[in-house]
Amino acid sequence: MNNPYSSYRSLFPILSNYVHLASCSQGALAQPVSRAIEEYHNSLLEFGSNWDQSIMKVEATREKFAELIGAEIDEIAILTSVSDVISTIATCLPYEKNKNNIILTDIDFPTVGHIWLAQKQDRAKISIIRSSNGIIHLEQYEKEVKENTLLTCIPHVSYYNGYMQNLKEIANIVHKKGSMLLVDAYQSAGHIPINVKEMNIDILTTGTRKYMLGIPGVAFLYIKKELAEQLKPRLSGWFGQASETKFDVFNSVFAPGSRRFETGTPSFISIYAAYQAINLLLKIGIHNIHSYLKELAELTREFGLQKGLQIIGPQSSECNSGMTSFYIGNASKIEGILREKKIIVSARKDVIRMAPHFYNTKDDLDYAITELSNLIHGNPDSFSF
Ligand SMILES: Cc1ncc(COP(=O)(O)O)c(C=O)c1O
Repeated sequence: MNNPYSSYRSLFPILSNYVHLASCSQGALAQPVSRAIEEYHNSLLEFGSNWDQSIMKVEATREKFAELIGAEIDEIAILTSVSDVISTIATCLPYEKNKNNIILTDIDFPTVGHIWLAQKQDRAKISIIRSSNGIIHLEQYEKEVKENTLLTCIPHVSYYNGYMQNLKEIANIVHKKGSMLLVDAYQSAGHIPINVKEMNIDILTTGTRKYMLGIPGVAFLYIKKELAEQLKPRLSGWFGQASETKFDVFNSVFAPGSRRFETGTPSFISIYAAYQAINLLLKIGIHNIHSYLKELAELTREFGLQKGLQIIGPQSSECNSGMTSFYIGNASKIEGILREKKIIVSARKDVIRMAPHFYNTKDDLDYAITELSNLIHGNPDSFSF
């Protein structure tokens, strides 16, 4: 199996020294993204202030992200982390006595639990849907989302085992019960096609440092326009104001659409990086990336099973995102040893995650899995436990 995107590999300097399989954590840095970071840095060195150019880049990046997920430009706000985005939403929901239940899942990234648990101090009631073997069946949403559910909060893809949920089906179920749907797409945006209109998603968030190939400091909020304007942010600031009140300390008028959720000056340098990163992804095409990663995921499973490794997570390719998790007791130690062998993977709790992107090849996976298997099962040339 050849990599159809092999000509892009030279854009990623890290690939000449390492096998990089950690897009679920930090994607590889591409030269155009690196140059964008330098451009911001150099503009400060050379011109002292680059405010106008930076604001233009914010708007251009908003537009690019809207294109990536099929949203309107005014439905996108730019913040700094997914945690900030979810907190912004959590603190401004209209909790009512009979509609105050928030549903999340045990496959959400832990920050999601931390944010909603913090809201219990106020009026929110929290229920957590529990997975079996890392999977949540649609019937569980049917059963657990009720008339008193204000918001159902789910990950598109599990950070732990790569399980991909069917957003369109879940949106149908939760809407029937009168709940809104918030999707954490941090493990899917950049390699799995998302169309917020077709999928009927109310609120979506993601950041740029994983499959979106940027750096930390940028997270996006998509919120349906009609919904955004019903909400009054409690985390606020001058970037979230309509233009007439931006410099008026006595009054506050929220900006139309999603911009009202912005607060202060964003991380311009990360936005410069995000713009180029999304540009590159759009150039290759998310549908193309997704098909290729599905093939790589199949190979990863095959290689892993041949080598006697234990795979955690989805067994069918339909709900496999591209990332594969191998159960390894001492995962963070193994991650460190693999790095010494020039293989970058990502450990979480008791698993090693292998998360390829379009720049990876079959040989990358073959090599990484062979080395991992040698470490686990012992090999005279390898470190053995
Ligand atoms: C699915 C998911 N959501 C949220 C986060 C946390 O994002 P942030 O650090 O931007 O709040 C992560 C992880 O790094 C993640 O994998």
